[in-house]
Amino acid sequence: MSAGTDHKGTNPFPMNNLRYVDAIPGIEAFYPLFMTTGWNERLGLTRDALATALAGSFYGVCAYDGDTLVAAGRLLSDGAYQCFLCDLIVHPDHQGRGIGKELVRRLLGHAKSHGIRWMQLTSARGKRGFYEKLGFTARSEEAPGMDIWL
Ligand SMILES: CC(C)(COP(=O)(O)OP(=O)(O)OC[C@H]1O[C@@H](n2cnc3c(N)ncnc32)[C@H](O)[C@@H]1OP(=O)(O)O)[C@@H](O)C(=O)NCCC(=O)NCCS
Repeated sequence: MSAGTDHKGTNPFPMNNLRYVDAIPGIEAFYPLFMTTGWNERLGLTRDALATALAGSFYGVCAYDGDTLVAAGRLLSDGAYQCFLCDLIVHPDHQGRGIGKELVRRLLGHAKSHGIRWMQLTSARGKRGFYEKLGFTARSEEAPGMDIWL
């Protein structure tokens, strides 16, 4: 678990003024949030590349504590029947207080209201239980999700 809290713990960081915004985050705020995950050690994305990735989103959601971006998530989609949930990130100081759950609830609601029938994702290590609580199921051995790194 990252610093801040475990997923069942009491978060020691006060939450002053939390608000949710249905929008793709700006790169200046998102880049430091993205860097909290350690994912860029493998990806090696520049700020410009990550801005391009954000611009290619179908939909995005953010949570702000005052003016500080503390969480975000986004969807990629064909706009017709399927979408992919990615870059769901809650800052370690703000994990364990329902923010991730609310972001996924909003992403599911948006997808459903646009006729999307199928949301896929790749669970990060140790996060399977989080997604299962939100209704996601792991695919069967006979029909697994598959990927390849290029
Ligand atoms: C995964 C992540 C988004 C969860 O966000 P969060 O705001 O800390 O989670 P929430 O507080 O909304 O938790 C919602 C529920 O899931 C549970 N939960 C949270 N993390 C969990 C985990 N790793 N395993 C099992 N359950 C978990 C919570 O206990 C809570 O349960 P409840 O509804 O019964 O009280 C957050 O930990 C994170 O950003 N991690 C780093 C980046 C990452 O790995 N993102 C996922 C990429 S696939």
